[in-house]
Amino acid sequence: MDINCLIKMEENDFFQTYKRLEIAIEKGDGCFLYSSNGDKILDMFGGLAVNVLGYGHKQINEAIKAQVDKYIHISNLFYQENQLKLAEKIKYLSGSSKVFFCNSGTEAVEAAIKAVRKFFLGSNKTELISFTGSFHGRTLGALTLTARKKYREQFLPLLPGVKHLEFNSIKDLEENVNNKTAAVFIECLQGEGGIKPSLPEFIEKLNDLKNKFGFIIAADEIQSGVGRTGTFNAYTQFTLDADITIMAKGIGGGLPLGAISGNERVKNVFTYGEHGSTFGGNPVAAASGLVVMDELEKGLMDLNLQNGNLLKEGLNKIKQKYPNIIKDVRGMGLMLGVELVSAAQPIVIEMLKQKVLVNCTNENVIRLLPPYIISQTEIHTFLNVFEIVISEL
Ligand SMILES: Cc1ncc(COP(=O)(O)O)c(C=O)c1O
Repeated sequence: MDINCLIKMEENDFFQTYKRLEIAIEKGDGCFLYSSNGDKILDMFGGLAVNVLGYGHKQINEAIKAQVDKYIHISNLFYQENQLKLAEKIKYLSGSSKVFFCNSGTEAVEAAIKAVRKFFLGSNKTELISFTGSFHGRTLGALTLTARKKYREQFLPLLPGVKHLEFNSIKDLEENVNNKTAAVFIECLQGEGGIKPSLPEFIEKLNDLKNKFGFIIAADEIQSGVGRTGTFNAYTQFTLDADITIMAKGIGGGLPLGAISGNERVKNVFTYGEHGSTFGGNPVAAASGLVVMDELEKGLMDLNLQNGNLLKEGLNKIKQKYPNIIKDVRGMGLMLGVELVSAAQPIVIEMLKQKVLVNCTNENVIRLLPPYIISQTEIHTFLNVFEIVISEL
């Protein structure tokens, strides 16, 4: 269908929640998207960190088709082999003890909030803490944790008992974390907030305070997890002492899937009926997720680190040439951010004209979340186009 027709339909039919790019995609293959007007676009955004094995991945498609031929949904009344196998893989790769499946990131955050509430039920530990710049999702609990004003201020009042502390401020931790703290939710490498890493001394203080007060630490790995940064979860590289890990995006290999995993301390928090989801751990999504885990086990995480380093090196070279345009290059593995001195959206538009898709977050940060299957040739193609666009500013 013609793009102008689609734009009109969207305006008429949809709540206007998404600012869309004016392109219609016909198909994807590897790291490329093919638009309806014949453009071949290098995708450095990977469906917002979802398409970790790219588009048209043979094993993912085969696993999905095989499961579709058996059944596409039963219910969580039944034992489901794909779910169980996926839980085993997640436990093995993350070193956690138990897993709960849902369908999205925000639902996984809600599951973590409920686990915290249940764990401390009847005690005075009722306060939840998160940090400035954080994004944890859009349902009311997750939105309350989300500190960024633009997402929350139209939806007040939100949940009581949630504090947003300054990200990386040890002073704020010392002054606000206490006996009433039930949990601290943290993205060790903030995504929406502009690809911002936690400082080692900040994490050290958080771990110390956990030892002192006994709260739960919940690591939001929805964007940074599933091997993207070179380890299954990014928080292990920060040596965060997390009890609960929150996952989504890449774990379903492109299909809707979310999860929390818990350590020995929290593994028995829920009993029958206390939490659940009709679709949670859908067998088709779990089949696709299993392929992702297989690929991670074959060494994809190391490759992410290598390719991420290559990408980062190239970006730093461009930064050195254009210090008046690029302020900072940061991130880990294949989760990188380029902070510009001015707004990043015009660069996104220019890059798209050159057939490369990147994303802008936090106003002035170009965010890169490419599929893990990206090749060195594709990385060089991106770097060449990026340098041309920057040089023409
Ligand atoms: C760190 C983080 N937490 C939570 C979410 C919410 O996930 P979802 O959009 O699947 O609900 C996101 C989504 O971008 C995220 O990046």
